Amino acid sequence: MPALVVVGAQWGDEGKGKVVDLYTPYADLVVRYAGGANAGHTLVVKGEKLILHLIPSGILHDGQCVIAQGTVLDPEVLLREIDQLEARGVDCQSRLKISDRAHVVLPQHKLIDGLREAAKGDDAIGTTKRGIGPTYEDKVGRRGVRMGDLRSRERLQPKLEANLAAWRPVIEAHGGEVPELEPILQTYLAMGARLGDAICDTAQIVAEAVAQDQRILLEGAQGTMLDIDHGTYPFVTSSNAIAGGACAGAGIGPTAISAVVGITKAYATRVGGGPFPTELNDEVGQKLRDVGVEYGSTTGRPRRCGWMDAVALRLAVRVNGMTEIALTKLDVLRGHETLKICVAYELDGERLSVPPYDDLDRVTPVYESLPGFSEDISGCRVRADLPANARAYIERLEDLVGCKVGIISVGPDREATADVSNPFGA
Ligand code: GDP
Ligand code: IMO
Ligand code: MG
Repeated sequence: MPALVVVGAQWGDEGKGKVVDLYTPYADLVVRYAGGANAGHTLVVKGEKLILHLIPSGILHDGQCVIAQGTVLDPEVLLREIDQLEARGVDCQSRLKISDRAHVVLPQHKLIDGLREAAKGDDAIGTTKRGIGPTYEDKVGRRGVRMGDLRSRERLQPKLEANLAAWRPVIEAHGGEVPELEPILQTYLAMGARLGDAICDTAQIVAEAVAQDQRILLEGAQGTMLDIDHGTYPFVTSSNAIAGGACAGAGIGPTAISAVVGITKAYATRVGGGPFPTELNDEVGQKLRDVGVEYGSTTGRPRRCGWMDAVALRLAVRVNGMTEIALTKLDVLRGHETLKICVAYELDGERLSVPPYDDLDRVTPVYESLPGFSEDISGCRVRADLPANARAYIERLEDLVGCKVGIISVGPDREATADVSNPFGA
């Protein structure tokens, strides 16, 4: 069975980019299946850092990369990313294909995303203001513009006119100025022309890869707790970030997926608003932020930090059908005398082992304490090399969530990883 999904198991920024980069040498095709430029996936190779927002994190290796129809694409960001990579000598032209059915993020989407957030004040979701929500709204509302529409003025103009007309009253109600049609038309047609034949029916590429029993790596964006159906609604993104999203988003049947690797940090972070039961607004949280350099890869915002939430992670194991966990940033836990894991929640005197969706902002975490470790683990390359307390922490987590840890990441660099093996099997 050829396909493997890499999915965020928390609130995003778990280290998906790093893990996809590590798995790519074993894959024939890497497919990004959801989200847009709200994502920021970081790759660090020999100390050199690269942040990708749209292009699959497999691009630094050989082989084909696809941005599939489940994504929403800002062509401006995409072209900038292609230019950056080409300037570094990475060939994108021949290796990157973009779905003609992926929806286009337009200037009005970014504008209204920002206006709405500003109008919400203290109740803001804390979106990345990349126009993600409004673009998915248009997709579901059946008034979206798709990448294939950028091929000609005849296709684009009527759709763009209708789209602008739909947003006009909303933008005006927020005191915004509706962008003009003609400049958007010209800019987006030019960008479509630049992308040229890279825009195609990528579901065919995926289908052929499945038929030929090739190894397909499906790269998720965001995380399970930000999923539109399974996350902390309404403080979520607007797509299905979970592994199931890969089927619709990439065009692959569920029976073709053989494994799901969930990425989780050894602690928890969240950027933006919404409930976060294990959040630490104290010096422990600040230490996690400082040591883990917890600042958003896309917006630069400080990430909220807290202890590992095994209740949320157990949910992620379940809804993703996770076959394995990749544990990242274990090195960041160094130097804490005690490590805590949230094993249950308490709500109105009751102990809960599953997140109560509508009351998540009212729960109190129930912690289990484990002894910490003080050793530098960044040189460990197999689990057995880790200090006993670090191993005990991982084993307890595995027990609590019912899923085994495979890869253990002990530093940002590609090399700083223990137990990397072929995720597709021998
Ligand atoms: P993604 O969105 O899931 O790909 O994750 P991000 O790239 O947004 O955030 C993860 C951050 O942690 C990046 O800055 C990575 O370079 C960094 N990182 C990944 N794994 C490790 C690790 O094991 N240790 C440390 N210290 N940093 C890591
Ligand atoms: P990666 O792929 C972390 C969060 C935003 C906000 C909410 C909605 O790098 O893990 P949106 O702009 O999607 O409408 O914002 O979702 N968010 C992310 N947080 N990592 C991401 O992506 C995120 N993508 C969206 O901060 O709370
Ligand atoms: Mg990120």
